[in-house]
Amino acid sequence: MEKYIINGGYKLTGEMNIQGAKNSVLPILAATVISGKTSYISNIPKLRDVEVMVKILSSLGANVSLDNDIMIIDSSTVNKIEVPEELVREMRSSIIIMGAMLARFGEVLIAFPGGCELGPRPIDLHLKALRQMGAIIEESHGFLNCKTKGLKGCEIQLDYPSVGATENIMLAATTAKGVTTIRNAAREPEIIDLQNYLNETGAKVFGAGTSIITIEGVEELDSCTHRIIPDRIVAGTYMIATAITKGELVLKDIVTDHLLSIISKLREVGVEVHANGNSLKVIGPDKIHAIEMLQTLPYPGFPTDMQAQFMTLLSIANGTSIVNETIFENRFKHAEELNRMGACIKTFGKVAVVKGVKELTGARVTAKDLRGGASLVLAGLVAKGTTEIENIYHVNRGYEKMSENLNKLGAKIKVVD
Ligand code: UD1
Repeated sequence: MEKYIINGGYKLTGEMNIQGAKNSVLPILAATVISGKTSYISNIPKLRDVEVMVKILSSLGANVSLDNDIMIIDSSTVNKIEVPEELVREMRSSIIIMGAMLARFGEVLIAFPGGCELGPRPIDLHLKALRQMGAIIEESHGFLNCKTKGLKGCEIQLDYPSVGATENIMLAATTAKGVTTIRNAAREPEIIDLQNYLNETGAKVFGAGTSIITIEGVEELDSCTHRIIPDRIVAGTYMIATAITKGELVLKDIVTDHLLSIISKLREVGVEVHANGNSLKVIGPDKIHAIEMLQTLPYPGFPTDMQAQFMTLLSIANGTSIVNETIFENRFKHAEELNRMGACIKTFGKVAVVKGVKELTGARVTAKDLRGGASLVLAGLVAKGTTEIENIYHVNRGYEKMSENLNKLGAKIKVVD
């Protein structure tokens, strides 16, 4: 299995473009099933999770091809309703195909996704909403057998603004009879991207980006072209890589608005961030200041997907910081690994106390999940000596060419098999 060997202590400087957003492309690829026509999706990031979604689409019968960064998905040939179990197990977010398949065929058989590295991650909100719309879902032997004689629009009050549940309902509702209203919907930028894609195919979705989304069911959807938005989490990760190495980086073609909570926290710890339209300059400070509280929240709050990377930054801050992870139960596995590199982090349930240390030192560590893996790469960039990170496949789920990109900016990373 691939691992990274990082020699720390090199400043990152230069400029870069940011890949398309993983969390946009996955639901949008699932959504391409609904039309039964051809979708042309550009700015596709080359990621393991995208490969899994393509395998799911192909296994259902779709014709998928790639022309540079444009993916062409012809879903007219989709003729199966069973999603292979091993693919659902490999990627939990494959559950998003449920809404799309119900919208197109009124039927889908899919394995129950179960837990993942971030904790139990139930799908009760997805199931409750789809049932409310008229889906009959039987749960047996680890499978979900979903059928409907026709979904009907209704009022859905989400108990929590779940990203995946909001997306699943949006997909299911596109061809449902009547109007569906989602209250307390997730407001993430990726939800707006999904709305834009759906509307480009002729769907009638309004309100994404606010907590009330309405979907007027239509009879059929059409072909379309769509460009995926830049990945705000990848942008945030490279911003921290720059800050932590006291470097200077210009990010091009990004959406600054999507990064405001990250920018605000970076400024709080002393990082200089200058926004100029759709580009952003980051200048790392001599000293990182500790912060009173970093709390993860649904958008527009600070993203849970940036918590691990920010913790690395705080681990070398001047003082003690508190991190409160309110979204996932089991998202501090990186703390233990950072401690192996000399950090001083104590976790108590969903709270971590990060006492800043003068420096991190290279060690052999293991990526336990995607963003935790990224946090170790960041630690390796600044640590004294050599850091060896195992299980890099986690990082490849969400970051395109991470070692190559960092090396171009001045890092010293070797990929070893
Ligand atoms: C999405 C993102 C993930 C991000 C997360 C939170 C994708 C592919 N993944 O995941 O990167 O970290 O949003 O921003 O877009 N919950 C329930 N019942 C449900 C659904 C969710 O209890 O039916 C809970 C989850 O266990 C979790 C919280 O709600 O504690 C948030 O989950 P959710 O917003 O659904 O995240 P995902 O869509 O899985």
